[in-house]
Amino acid sequence: MLSEAGHRGQHVYLNVCIVCHHGDPNRDGTLGPAIAGSSLELVRAKVLHREYPPGYEPQRTTFLMPAYPFVEEKLPDVVAYLAEVEAPEARSARGGTPPARP
Ligand code: HEC
Repeated sequence: MLSEAGHRGQHVYLNVCIVCHHGDPNRDGTLGPAIAGSSLELVRAKVLHREYPPGYEPQRTTFLMPAYPFVEEKLPDVVAYLAEVEAPEARSARGGTPPARP
């Protein structure tokens, strides 16, 4: 079950992010990697500035993803969605826990 914020975030994800990321954020998409469990810091840096937070090790070395400044105010909802759908097995498959992803 998604929270209200999670629902709003899912809406954004399904409209914008899904073009490249998988419909299930736990899985790699056509272009973009799995991003379930991503922190607000990471999502803001990537979506607004095409950057990563200091010290974060990106999953990919490419810079194919454009910035999407128009979703700025929705990003906390997107992060709520990405946290709520994160599958525990996907988390361990990536070798990390959510707090380890800044
Ligand atoms: C045009 C395709 C495209 C769209 C649309 C897109 N992404 Fe991405 N995303 C990528 C690619 C490709 C990467 C891998 C790094 C790169 O090449 O920029 C990426 C990487 C990321 C990462 C970093 C993952 C990591 O741990 O290294 C995050 C977070 C992310 N995307 C979030 C989002 C969100 C949230 C949206 C929707 C608002 C979105 N992306 C829309 C293509 C896209």
